[in-house]
Amino acid sequence: MERKQQLSRVLTNLFFALFSYLLIASPTCARDRIELREEARQMFYHAYDNYMQYAFPHDELKPLSRTYTDSLAELGNLNHEHLPEFYNGTALTLVESLSSLAVLGNETEFVKGVAWLGDNLSFDIDVRVNLFECNIRLLGGLISAHLLASESFGGLIQGGYKNQLLQLADDLGQRLLPAFDTPTGIPYAWINLKNGVMIDETLETSTSGCGSLILEMGALSRLTGNPHYEDAALKALRKLWSMRSSLDLMGTTLNVATGKWIEHSSGIGAGVDSFYEYLLKAHILFGREEYWDMFQPAYVAVQQYFRHGPWYHEADMRTGKATYWQLTSLQAFWPAVQVLIGDVAAANATHREFFSVWEKYGVMPERYLLDRGTIHPTERYYPLRPELAESTFYLYQATKDPWYLDVGEKLLTSLNKLTRVDGGYASVRDVTTMELEDHQHSFFLSETCKYLYLLFDDTFLSDTNYVFNTEGHPLPVLRSWQQWFSLESSKDNTSTKREADSRRNASWSSAMESQMCPNLRSVFTNRSWKVESVCHVLDEQDDHTCDSRASCGVDAATCRKRTCSSSGYCGLWEKA
Ligand SMILES: *[C@@H]1O[C@H](CO)[C@@H](O)[C@H](O)[C@H]1NC(C)=O
Ligand SMILES: *[C@@H]1O[C@H](CO)[C@@H](O)[C@H](O)[C@H]1NC(C)=O
Ligand SMILES: *[C@@H]1O[C@H](CO)[C@@H](O)[C@H](O)[C@H]1NC(C)=O
Ligand SMILES: *[C@@H]1O[C@H](CO)[C@@H](O)[C@H](O)[C@H]1NC(C)=O
Ligand SMILES: *[C@@H]1O[C@H](CO)[C@@H](O)[C@H](O)[C@H]1NC(C)=O
Ligand SMILES: *[C@@H]1O[C@H](CO)[C@@H](O)[C@H](O)[C@H]1NC(C)=O
Ligand SMILES: *[C@@H]1O[C@H](CO)[C@@H](O)[C@H](O)[C@H]1NC(C)=O
Repeated sequence: MERKQQLSRVLTNLFFALFSYLLIASPTCARDRIELREEARQMFYHAYDNYMQYAFPHDELKPLSRTYTDSLAELGNLNHEHLPEFYNGTALTLVESLSSLAVLGNETEFVKGVAWLGDNLSFDIDVRVNLFECNIRLLGGLISAHLLASESFGGLIQGGYKNQLLQLADDLGQRLLPAFDTPTGIPYAWINLKNGVMIDETLETSTSGCGSLILEMGALSRLTGNPHYEDAALKALRKLWSMRSSLDLMGTTLNVATGKWIEHSSGIGAGVDSFYEYLLKAHILFGREEYWDMFQPAYVAVQQYFRHGPWYHEADMRTGKATYWQLTSLQAFWPAVQVLIGDVAAANATHREFFSVWEKYGVMPERYLLDRGTIHPTERYYPLRPELAESTFYLYQATKDPWYLDVGEKLLTSLNKLTRVDGGYASVRDVTTMELEDHQHSFFLSETCKYLYLLFDDTFLSDTNYVFNTEGHPLPVLRSWQQWFSLESSKDNTSTKREADSRRNASWSSAMESQMCPNLRSVFTNRSWKVESVCHVLDEQDDHTCDSRASCGVDAATCRKRTCSSSGYCGLWEKA
C-alpha cells in the first residue's frame, strides 16, 4: 500500500519534472543552443587557424590575400603617422586569442601559445603605439591569460608555468609608464616602446584613451606588487574626473599638458565609451567606493543628457544641448554596462533598437543618422565589431529570455553569410554594397567570437566571477584584490576610510551579485511587483511609509534595498 503511494508520488514528481523541463527548456531549444555553440566555436577556429597559417607571428591576418599586416602601430592612428620602418609584429592576434582558447577549453593550444610568447615575444622594439590600444589588447590579453594559466588562479597550466606572461606584462607596463609623465598626470596618447615619448608628440588625447587604463594597471600592480601602475592610472583618472562639467558630463578630447578640453561635444560612443565602463568595472574588480562615487553621477548624467528614448545622441558637456543625432556602432556596448548595474529594462529597450539597425543592413553600420533614419554618407563600414554580441550576451545572462539566443543566431548567420571567406573573416567596407576589406581585426577573436560562444555556453563562468576588460579579456573577481591597498600618496583619506569599512563588511565577490539588483530574478518572475526599471522597485505605499522592511522597495541609483526607519519611512538608512 505504502509502496504504491510512493510509486505514484515518484511518478507525479517525474511528471512535473518532465513537464517543467518541457515548459522551461524544450529539447529543441536545448539542442539548438548546442548547435549554435558549435557554430560559434567553428567561427573562432576559422579565424584563428587562418591567422596561424598565414599571418602568425605578425599582428593581424589579411583574409582576402591570405597574408599579414603588422598593424600595431596603426591602431588608433587614422593618418598612419610615424609608422615604423622595421617592425615584424608582436603576434598581436595570438595574444588576443589566448583567453578565447581558455573559454573554448582548448588547453593544448593555449599552452602552445603561452610557450611561444614566453620564448619569442619582446617589447624592446622601436615602434610608436597607442597607449590605450596597447593597454587593452596586449597588456589586457597577457594579464588575463596569465591569470587563467597560473595554478593559484585559473590553473590551465598545471606545473611548468613560470609566470612568463606576467614578466612580459610587467616589461610592457614599464615601457608604458613614461607616458604618464605630464604636468597633469594624464598620459600622452602615444609612446614608443623602445624610446619612450617622442619629442614633439601630440598633446591631444581622448577621454577613453586616458580614462580606461585602471583595470589593467590595477591588476598589474596587484600581480607584481609594484604600486606604480595603479597609482599612475588612478591619478590620471582622478584628474580627468575633476575636469567634468557642472552637469557631470565629460568632453571627448583634451590637452594632456594643460588639462583643458579640446572637444566639448561628447556621448557614449567613440572617444568616451570605455571611460564609463571602466569606472563601474573597477568598482566591481577592486571594491573601491571611489569608483562608484564617480560612476554613479556620470551614469545619471548620461541618462539625463544623452538619452532620447532608447537612443543616445551627443551633447555639449557645458550646456547639455544635443549636438549630433547619430548612432555609432560603439554605443552598442552600453546595454552591457546597464545590465551590470541592474538597469535591465533600459538595456533591453536600447538593445532592441540597435538590433533593428543591424537587421536593416545585415550588419551594423559604423554611423547612422537618427534624425533622418539613414546611414551616414561616408562611415558605412563594419569592421566585425563585437558590441552588439556583447550586449546580447549580458542581457541573456540577466534575463534568460530565449529571444536573445535568437538574436545571437542571427548575428552568427549574418557574419557567416556576409563576412566569411576562405582565408578567415573580412571586415565590411560598405554595408550597403557588402564590399569587403582585407582585414581581420584581432578583436574579432578576443570579443566577437568569445561573446557569441559565451551566449550559447557559459560553462566558463560557472565557478568564478569575471569582469571583462573592454577587449573581452576576463579578469577574475578576487576577494584578495579587494583587500589590497594602493600606496598612492593621497592626502584625502576620507574615501579610503569609508572604503576600508565597507570592504570589511563586504560579503560579495561577484560582479553580478555586487551591482545587479538583489532581487533581479524574482522581479522577472513576479509580475505582481511594481517595477519601474528593473533596479528600481517602488515602496509599497506611495507616501513611503512602512511598518517593516518588507514593504520598502529597491533604490534605483544604488540598487540597494531600502529599509524602514524607526519613524516608519522607507529610505537608504544605515543599519541602526
Ligand atoms: C624583420 O624580419 C626581416 C626578415 O625576416 C629581418 O630581416 C629583419 O631583421 C626583421 N626586423 C626586425 C626589426 O626584427
Ligand atoms: C585546439 O586548437 C587547435 C588549433 O586550432 C586544434 O587543432 C585542436 O583540435 C583544438 N583542440 C580542441 C580540443 O578543440
Ligand atoms: C620561438 O620561435 C622559434 C623561431 O621561430 C621557434 O623555433 C621556437 O619553437 C619558438 N618557441 C616556442 C616555445 O614555440
Ligand atoms: C524587452 O522588451 C520587449 C519588447 O518591448 C518586452 O516584450 C520584454 O518583456 C522586455 N524584456 C525585459 C527584460 O525588459
Ligand atoms: C585622515 O585624515 C584626518 C583628518 O584629515 C587625520 O586626522 C587622520 O590622521 C588621517 N588618517 C590617516 C590614516 O592618515
Ligand atoms: C560594518 O559592520 C560593523 C559590524 O559588523 C558595523 O558596526 C559597521 O557599521 C559596518 N560598516 C558599514 C560601512 O557598513
Ligand atoms: C511576488 O511578490 C509578492 C509581493 O512581494 C510576494 O509576496 C510573493 O511571494 C512573490 N511571489 C513569488 C512567486 O516570488
